Amino acid sequence: MLNFQLPRLDKDDLLSSRLLKYSRLRPGEIWHDPKGVHRVGCLDAINDTQIEQLMKKDKASLAIQDPPYNLVAFQKRNVESFIEWCSSWLKVTEKYLTDNSSLYIWLGADQNNNFQPFAEFIIMMNSTDFKSKSFITMRNQRGYGTQKNWMAVRQELLYYVKGEPVFNIEHVYTDIPKILKGYYKEVGGVVTENLERSKSPFIRAGNVWVDIQQVFHLMDENVNGCFAQKPLKSIERIINVSSAENDSVIDFFSHAGTTLLACEKLKRKCRTVDINPIYCEISIRRLERFRNTGKSGWQNSNPFAEEILNDSELKKYLKEKGMNIPSKLSE
Ligand SMILES: C[S@@+](CC[C@H](N)C(=O)[O-])C[C@H]1O[C@@H](n2cnc3c(N)ncnc32)[C@H](O)[C@@H]1O
Repeated sequence: MLNFQLPRLDKDDLLSSRLLKYSRLRPGEIWHDPKGVHRVGCLDAINDTQIEQLMKKDKASLAIQDPPYNLVAFQKRNVESFIEWCSSWLKVTEKYLTDNSSLYIWLGADQNNNFQPFAEFIIMMNSTDFKSKSFITMRNQRGYGTQKNWMAVRQELLYYVKGEPVFNIEHVYTDIPKILKGYYKEVGGVVTENLERSKSPFIRAGNVWVDIQQVFHLMDENVNGCFAQKPLKSIERIINVSSAENDSVIDFFSHAGTTLLACEKLKRKCRTVDINPIYCEISIRRLERFRNTGKSGWQNSNPFAEEILNDSELKKYLKEKGMNIPSKLSE
């Protein structure tokens, strides 16, 4: 396996500024997929004029939003202004959703600070037209804070709807076989146990997802440089359950392009944006790489590997930071 990592781009402004020249989009620009399927914009999620150019006359049946959480990993602003900002991109989101559509939002809760901004966010959602449907928890394998507190392994995912969207029940199952018998019930005079009655030999994901591997460097889907990448399987589950083939799906916080890739795999049309040209470039490259090689990420290499090898300044900079720079890209 090639060992060619990148430092986290959000923690290295100098590296980001040096990679900027390899990003094809400038702020305000939109990439139109040559195959005519997806669109990626270097746009601001709260700028309706920009989003209108992305969407054209299109409306989506599903929105998957994963904003920066206002937690340690992201630039901190006070919770009121964060919630106000969330209201702004929610208004824009709502405008481009069909009458019967689903909205999923990933959001953190700071356990050392009154669970903000999660608590304030769900209260703010009261004043929107979205109807709450489920509060899903995805369990991480790795946690933090284990010595004096319960290990923090949760990722919160909120599910809201507008009208009565599709809910494709056949996609709610995990790969975990049902092993527990019980729940005996009489059906037509015969006592049956739950395994005989069930529609599937596998357990449902339910609202606690324990079957999804957190992304790390040995996984094909890993995108080095990114710091907030969601597992592809989680996004594929959402798309499979809450949209149909050929539907449009929106994601205003693209980052590693996970929604874009999941849409490509599942034959949906993705309309996605990121305010940062580098994450737009990474998203587009991830789609192109998948189309060319079938790979879902860079594992322990990175999206700018080729440019770095041909850019002596970048190479020198990364070496000084202690990064391993291979002499060539093949192992
Ligand atoms: C938590 S990450 C999204 C992760 C993504 N779901 C994935 O799987 O890779 C948040 C992203 O939102 C972008 N972002 C922050 N503010 C934005 C804004 N106003 N408009 C669009 N994107 C924004 C950041 O650049 C960052 O890439």
